[in-house]
Amino acid sequence: MILVVDFGSQLAHLIARRIRSLGVYTEIVEPTVKASWIKNQKPQGIILSGGPQSVYEKDSLTLDKELLELGIPILGICYGHQLLAQVLGAKVIPANKEYGKETLTVKKSKLLKGLDKKEQVWASHGDTVLSAPEGFEVVGATEECNIAAFENSDKKIYGVQFHPEVAHTINGMKVLKNFVEITGGGKGYSIKGLDRKLVAEIKSTVKDGAVIMGVSGGVDSLVASVLVRTATPNIYCVFVDHGLIRKNEKQEVAELYRKLQFKHFYYVDAAKLFLHRLKGITDPEKKRKIIGNTFIEVFERKVKELKKYHDIKYLGQGTIYPDRIESAKASKQASVIKTHHNVGGLPEKMKLKLVEPLKDLYKDEVRELGKELGLKKEWLWKHPFPGPGLAVRIPGIVTPQKIALLKEADAIFMEELKKSGYYDKTWQAFAALLPVKAVGVMGDARAYGYIITLRAVTSQDAMTADWAKLPPELLERVSTKITKKVKGVTRVLYDISQKPPATIEYE
Ligand code: XMP
Repeated sequence: MILVVDFGSQLAHLIARRIRSLGVYTEIVEPTVKASWIKNQKPQGIILSGGPQSVYEKDSLTLDKELLELGIPILGICYGHQLLAQVLGAKVIPANKEYGKETLTVKKSKLLKGLDKKEQVWASHGDTVLSAPEGFEVVGATEECNIAAFENSDKKIYGVQFHPEVAHTINGMKVLKNFVEITGGGKGYSIKGLDRKLVAEIKSTVKDGAVIMGVSGGVDSLVASVLVRTATPNIYCVFVDHGLIRKNEKQEVAELYRKLQFKHFYYVDAAKLFLHRLKGITDPEKKRKIIGNTFIEVFERKVKELKKYHDIKYLGQGTIYPDRIESAKASKQASVIKTHHNVGGLPEKMKLKLVEPLKDLYKDEVRELGKELGLKKEWLWKHPFPGPGLAVRIPGIVTPQKIALLKEADAIFMEELKKSGYYDKTWQAFAALLPVKAVGVMGDARAYGYIITLRAVTSQDAMTADWAKLPPELLERVSTKITKKVKGVTRVLYDISQKPPATIEYE
């Protein structure tokens, strides 16, 4: 295992995933963990991530110095590189910023083995290491940064100012692979055969008990349901319709679970209750809270109802690794951007024990596992859909009329994306309805209607995203169809914002 110490970087997950793809299991840990704790985990290597702070700032995150005495190979990236320098007695100062592609001049090095003398790397920093720590060799420099890489190969401690984990560092994977080799090489970690292990774990937890699963039709809950079902026949799948789901979603999810021969699948229509509670609410976080709490209430009622069949003791969820890490982080280093709704409040309230077979996996690993389980590509590559559904795609007040318009417009967009092959080329795409009206002309008359905005993004993990460069002909077709078929919409926009600064959803 390699531990990734997260100093608040947006890229910590990317580092962890890249290392996993090199055959080593990874876990992300808080920067406050003590060296003694890390030692007990017996990791083969440690990576210190980047972070938004400056190491010389008062109260900035630091490193347990003893970590450097454990004899475990360490790689510091960006903030991690600067932190290593500082802890080892060198100076870090504010300097000319480097943001984006830079050229790295490479010297002979264990970490940078196999790289050309000049390499394109991606950097994002405002501080720089002034001199290499004693006993360390400088092995890389960029135009603005003389100490862009240093190492002490006896101590197996390495630092790079640039980001080897991002794709713009052309040979970044070589650097990470070199580090993995230094730590003892790949250990054959892979998804293959993992299903058997996970099923065995579920069996030993649940025994002859029963599990209730909250399902959404999405990839994670689907793969989790299939694993749980393989472990026990006592599985009750519940799909709560809060009235903010996509057109045809209800039929599609029911059909999916029927096709997969789930014996107990329950559809709960709670649309009226949710919409009643959302009436007049404009604040996005309030919307999320109302939806989350109402979800718990509806779900709880269903569990009570199912008591006549089984005394359910377990709640199955499709929680994946980033969900866990991010919800933990929300209370610590990272600022809360949005509280993502899940059914996390349920087990505590209802005294249910959690069954989360995917809790250590990334989305791409879940998809791979799903493939191993024989699930179809179209189910596994379904775009993510937020828990609060269309409520976060209708900024401001949510009304049945707005929902109806949005469902139609979104269905048109999805149909055209699928037909053109662009659905599979985007991470996520959807229509949203803006809370303003605009003038149009329809026939010979003045029209005054809503504005639909189309959003399609490419991404690897939803932490950052770029707007998808959809062909203009496709956008034109979608726009024409929407304004023609969806009464009450006079304008269609295409959103060309990146995340950050925008987010993927509208609220
Ligand atoms: P943002 O909008 O934060 O979205 O860029 C990142 C990813 O998370 C999804 N998302 C949510 N998922 N509950 C969820 O279960 C939520 O409240 C929520 N908000 C955003 C979003 O669809 C994207 O995939």
